[in-house]
Amino acid sequence: MAFSERVTRLKSSLIREILAAAQRPEMMSFAGGLPAESMLPKTEWADMPRTLGQYGMSEGEPALREALAAEARALGVPCDASQVIIISGSQQTLDLAAKLYIDKGTEILMEGPTYLAALQIFQLFGAECLTVPLLAEGPDLIAMRERLEHHTPAFAYLIPTFQNPSAVRYSESARDAVAALLDEFGVTLIEDEPYRELTFDGGSARPIVSRLNKASWIYTGTVSKTLMPGLRVGYLIATPDLFPHLLKLKQSADLHTNRVGQWQALQWIGTDHYRQHLVGLRSFYRQRRDQFEAALQRHFNDLADWNEPQGGLFFWLTLKQPLDTRTLLDQALAQNVAFMPGEPFFSDPDANPGYIRLNFSHIDPARLDEGLQRLAAVVRSALAAKAA
Ligand SMILES: Cc1ncc(COP(=O)(O)O)c(C=O)c1O
Repeated sequence: MAFSERVTRLKSSLIREILAAAQRPEMMSFAGGLPAESMLPKTEWADMPRTLGQYGMSEGEPALREALAAEARALGVPCDASQVIIISGSQQTLDLAAKLYIDKGTEILMEGPTYLAALQIFQLFGAECLTVPLLAEGPDLIAMRERLEHHTPAFAYLIPTFQNPSAVRYSESARDAVAALLDEFGVTLIEDEPYRELTFDGGSARPIVSRLNKASWIYTGTVSKTLMPGLRVGYLIATPDLFPHLLKLKQSADLHTNRVGQWQALQWIGTDHYRQHLVGLRSFYRQRRDQFEAALQRHFNDLADWNEPQGGLFFWLTLKQPLDTRTLLDQALAQNVAFMPGEPFFSDPDANPGYIRLNFSHIDPARLDEGLQRLAAVVRSALAAKAA
């Protein structure tokens, strides 16, 4: 069959397969980045105007664009509503950016590790991924400068606040230094922030786009982690040089984001009840994080190291003895435990064995201990088999 040349690069997504297995009710899943079921807010639909059944504007609903621009300005992002496009989840920003920038062989700059669905879409379009290792408080700045001195990436894709998968939050000085480097080398920044609101210590993290003086940027966010991923509502804010191109690509992709979801999002964004909901969400997930860490201490203390996440939805474990964690998957699933191997979060998976990403938000606390105990047993038996 004659498919496009790019489809030959479409990798089967491990996460899709794992998430399919994780749907089984008996499964203890640490795999996806799912909100806790009980924290999906109760929504009202009765007042939704019938006119929303009509086609809408590609840019999105004007009132929602205004509300999101106001929220972004409050974070220090210089923008107005004319720079906002409502998109079908922030995943669509990555798709639009790939179409805007990437031909076969186009170099882009990413963190190592990075969000695996971003790797997947950028590689589908043929990107060469230059990676910068992530350290505890941000990217390795020496490596970043070195990449920028020797290459001209079309853009840098970064997740500076509670990164997926590593949970790293860039420090203030790392944010300033990254902005200065991108300005110096004139590299466009795509800053992806789905986890910004899920902060447990209230620490400051002004977006990097707000620190740029010259470079172009796209800032993207979503209601998936704070309201409902099923709404499929996210947004991007872009500098005026990029905006018209992104808008045309949005139009050609799906005309506009579903208006029903946009209306629901507008019932929340910028309101007091949304702020109250976020306060509840933070303390709920902070508690889940603490319970999870206590269980990790019980079962993984001798097997792995980790940093306590100060926000977001994940623990990122570094095994004390590296092994390809993809090889653990079948055994874990057979034990009704789903997790995300770390290798697919790297552009060069085989060179980066020995990491595991564990989601702490979704698991039923009553099954947490059992799930981690079983997973630890799988790791232990693989290590024993390796040593034998
Ligand atoms: C870093 C990152 N970007 C984008 C997304 C996609 O989110 P959305 O549901 O808004 O498409 C996710 C979801 O897990 C994510 O972790």
